[in-house]
Amino acid sequence: MDSLEQLVASAVQDFDAAKDDAAALENAKAKYLGKTGQITELMKGLGKLDPDAKKAQGALINAAKQQIEAALTARRDALAEAQLQARLNAEAIDVSLPGRGRAGGGIHPVMRTWERVEEIFRSIGFDVADGPEIETDWTNFTALNSPENHPARSMQDTFYIEGNDSQGKPLLLRTHTSPMQVRYARSHTPPIKVIAPGRTYRVDSDATHSPMFHQVEGLWIAENISFADLKGVYLNFVKAFFETDDLQVRFRPSYFPFTEPSAEIDIAFGSGPLKGRWLEVSGSGQVHPNVVRNFGLDPEKFIGFAFGSGLERLTMLRYGINDLRLFYEGDLRFLKQFN
Ligand code: FA5
Ligand code: MG
Repeated sequence: MDSLEQLVASAVQDFDAAKDDAAALENAKAKYLGKTGQITELMKGLGKLDPDAKKAQGALINAAKQQIEAALTARRDALAEAQLQARLNAEAIDVSLPGRGRAGGGIHPVMRTWERVEEIFRSIGFDVADGPEIETDWTNFTALNSPENHPARSMQDTFYIEGNDSQGKPLLLRTHTSPMQVRYARSHTPPIKVIAPGRTYRVDSDATHSPMFHQVEGLWIAENISFADLKGVYLNFVKAFFETDDLQVRFRPSYFPFTEPSAEIDIAFGSGPLKGRWLEVSGSGQVHPNVVRNFGLDPEKFIGFAFGSGLERLTMLRYGINDLRLFYEGDLRFLKQFN
């Protein structure tokens, strides 16, 4: 029958028009098979026909209904399949893409020096201590024989911190690791034999100075430790650290308020990229009696030496680097060479 065929064709068309939206397909289904759908209405109309016509017409309508139902199921399956495909495509992993890789981290060259220095001094019986980077005026200066207004204070221009210590003095970023001499000696009994590596800060910036840098403090206090011991210990350290005898060490007379006599320690290599260039690596000296007194010890009885060496400078010499700022630019091409 013509009109039934058209009905089936129009249902198939409506189902096809329903795209990825499940509601559209259900609406199309209701249009034909729902309570007031066109097939349902045709069925209702059968009641008015006589028995033979009813039977014949009923069979035709049923056949059309089945075709529509089959078309509906086919469309449902097709939509589900298309949705699955879309998801699979979206979530697909391209196994042929090169992997992101896992970059191996490395130790910063200055940290390597730090570790090496600890290892060498531990091996000759030094303790290793750690101290605060925010210091009091007393520990950073006064206890180290640099009273207020002492001109030596201006050798170390300082970053001050908001807030005061218990004596009403502004807190500061330590300018050297020397305050650790005071902290450690006041909390330990002699013989005192310690190094204290750590970060230090100054208003400084050029090829051999950085505003944040690292020092390692050394302190050996007992009843009979002399300047000669300082020379012996430091020379041995330098040879162990640089793994060479092809270098010169010079103790250049200098001044620090907290040592007397005082010396700067300079190093020059006999070969390599920095050949013949003297670089200051350390301050040093015999601890001043006033400082020994501030340790809480009797300077008539206790004596010893101290030094404060720059870890960046030691690293520069070890690897032949001529500009210390390279350490803090974070350039991987530079840093990768050490790992
Ligand atoms: C001092 O800081 C003294 N506290 C050292 C000392 C300790 C003397 C114990 C006597 C007894 P000086 O300012 O020279 O001294 O610094 C020591 C070393 O730190 C220098 O030799 C240098 O190697 C390093 N240094 C100093 N300033 C900087 C900087 N801005 N950047 C990098 N390294 C620095
Ligand atoms: Mg110096």
